[in-house]
Amino acid sequence: MKIEEFTLERIQSLYENTVEYNLSDSGVHPYSLRELLTPSEQRALLDVELGYGWTNGKVSLREAIARLYPGRDADNVIVTNGSAEANFLLVMSLLEPGDELVVFVPNYLQILGWARAIGVNVKQVLLREELGWTPDLDDVRKVVSTKTKMMTICHPNNPTGSLLSRETMDGLVAIARENDVYLHADEVYKGAELESQEPPSFADLYEKAIVTSGLSKALALPGLRIGWLVGPAAEIYASWQSKDYTSITTSAVSEFVAEIVVQPAKRQEILARSKRILRENLAVLSAWVEKNSDLFSFVPPKAGGMAFLRYSMDINSTTLIHRLREERSIMLLPGDVYGLDKYIRIGIGAPAEHLQAGLERLAGFVRSELR
Ligand SMILES: Cc1ncc(COP(=O)(O)O)c(C=O)c1O
Repeated sequence: MKIEEFTLERIQSLYENTVEYNLSDSGVHPYSLRELLTPSEQRALLDVELGYGWTNGKVSLREAIARLYPGRDADNVIVTNGSAEANFLLVMSLLEPGDELVVFVPNYLQILGWARAIGVNVKQVLLREELGWTPDLDDVRKVVSTKTKMMTICHPNNPTGSLLSRETMDGLVAIARENDVYLHADEVYKGAELESQEPPSFADLYEKAIVTSGLSKALALPGLRIGWLVGPAAEIYASWQSKDYTSITTSAVSEFVAEIVVQPAKRQEILARSKRILRENLAVLSAWVEKNSDLFSFVPPKAGGMAFLRYSMDINSTTLIHRLREERSIMLLPGDVYGLDKYIRIGIGAPAEHLQAGLERLAGFVRSELR
């Protein structure tokens, strides 16, 4: 089996630690353990026994995660190493060569890459910029049929920060139900809505929904490497079979911390911090885009840690980001990785001064070198 390069991740792995202004990060500035835990929780952490634990996740952690999804219990949850492993297990346990998968693009692209690698027939539906980067349900109806095994959507969306209206969520569920297909949603950015209330999970709306989530993005704890899948018990059990072949278990230390983090009050406290950082930064970015509106425009994100900017300069997006990196020590993600040239993805989860200074340097480069 050959897998295509995951350019989105590869570019970041190669360069994000080599620049002064890394604006390619897709999450919120992370917590330290000291900032996150109370002194008594920190002391309790020192007593955590470093055994293997449960291969599908500590029971009390699975129960706590299940409580975030009304009507679900521990059998509907598997704990994984990051949401990346959750996405991987989903593909490996539920899709087979020749299956048809409908993917909404642009998105994080991990599932698309794995699905193609194992010989799944991938069909794409575009999120439309003119609809605030959401799908036109007629486009979906044209592509989905009873031959489709699964639809997959990243919601809130990476890279655009778009959110679906409740009507569109219900519309997707109706199409899935009519055709009896799985509806997978990567909801790792859920909870980081900038203006609106947190939407329901697709797991709350559809019996054949499978949801990927975790602590890395809205919850600002990527270093814990904790993610999960939530879905029907049989499908979750099938993903556990694959987990025995991947990482066996998650870290006991991370599970201890995760159990604290997913308690509703703590989760809300963390989300409030994330939203404060993201709102402040979105204000910085919006003011900058307005000032540079001859060069940049965007549909402001409604949730999540990034914005997707359109630019008018006559330069390819990959060339642009490499020149910015080499000549100004700024790191961005090119629209090319999503198959959308003339866009750049910019993280809005960093400290505001960092973003502000990076943006000024970016505008300076464009005005002096590309005009
Ligand atoms: C939408 C989405 N899903 C999953 C992941 C993987 O995240 P992690 O494994 O850190 O939870 C990412 C990382 O950028 C992402 O943006």
